[in-house]
Amino acid sequence: MKISRRKMLKISAGTGAALLLSELPVFAQQPPLLMRLIPSSGEGIPVVGLGSARTFNVGPPTSEWLGLSDVVELFHEMGGRFFDTAPSYGTSEKVAGQIVRELGIEDDLFFATKISTGGGRQAGIDQEEGSHQSWGRDTIDLNQVHNLRDVDTHLRTIRQAKEEGRTRYVGVTTSFARQYQRMEQVLRIEELDFVQLNYSLGEREAAERLLPLAQDRGLGVVVNEPYNVGRLFGAVRGRELPDWAAEFDCRSWGQFFLKYILAHPAVTVIIPATSDPEHLVDNMGAGVGRLPDERTRTRMEELFDGLT
Ligand SMILES: NC(=O)c1ccc[n+]([C@@H]2O[C@H](COP(=O)([O-])OP(=O)(O)OC[C@H]3O[C@@H](n4cnc5c(N)ncnc54)[C@H](OP(=O)(O)O)[C@@H]3O)[C@@H](O)[C@H]2O)c1
Repeated sequence: MKISRRKMLKISAGTGAALLLSELPVFAQQPPLLMRLIPSSGEGIPVVGLGSARTFNVGPPTSEWLGLSDVVELFHEMGGRFFDTAPSYGTSEKVAGQIVRELGIEDDLFFATKISTGGGRQAGIDQEEGSHQSWGRDTIDLNQVHNLRDVDTHLRTIRQAKEEGRTRYVGVTTSFARQYQRMEQVLRIEELDFVQLNYSLGEREAAERLLPLAQDRGLGVVVNEPYNVGRLFGAVRGRELPDWAAEFDCRSWGQFFLKYILAHPAVTVIIPATSDPEHLVDNMGAGVGRLPDERTRTRMEELFDGLT
């Protein structure tokens, strides 16, 4: 994992971050991020991606953008590629698009977005065109029907874009257990490349049926809300990381939560969101080194359940 000295100094100076100063040189010497293959194509993808739902939903350019730009630049320098956004995340898609274009890395990133409208076919097509404009790209890597909303209509739009070379992969998303039954039906009948769903130590229902089904159907799996929207940190506040976390190269609670997910064999990429460069470095660290085995995952569940 390479990080330029210039970048280290810039970020460290900008944030005054003690963690960054101490952690970045360590990460710079570590092996590259783990990769997983997208089942439908065999293309490799680094396992830690970046979400953007709330974090990039900010107003016009201010100093807040500098931190977000640092997050994206560090993500890219540390080998991250998969960036998840949506036109329905307020300003997130446009802000992220402007930042990646200013950094000149729009073609390096794996651009994942969504169609999220109940306004019918033309409204979905308009969203798709807006996503191209936001990122200044002719091609969207992955377009997903957001929360299964009007799924038949928007899958047709995304498939047509794929046939015409404007989209590379087709997917569907949810982050609600109440949609799992419907999601199961969709995964069984539709030809898809990816499913995106919520899965974390705090919300493990997806492992019961959806993750095994995704494996059976040969789908890539994107995991959203890997920190259960940050709630997992509340459960461990003031608690020491157990000594045995070192057995799978885990150095923080963040990495504990993310490595638990990455060790599931169905998972292709996780998309933790952050607006904080220190947290970004922490999150990327989950994608290097060993992962917990099955017995250790059970131990992690027992520890977590004992806290909540
Ligand atoms: N249906 C869907 O398609 C759907 C639904 C939900 C989410 N998503 C996607 O999934 C992404 C991730 O989900 P999410 O944003 O809801 O929640 P999340 O990634 O589970 O949690 C984000 C929260 O964790 C904090 N955090 C991140 N890294 C941390 C670290 N190392 N240490 C301490 N705190 C840390 C962040 O705060 P800081 O900013 O302070 O780091 C933020 O408050 C979204 O952004 C979106 O792209 C998709």
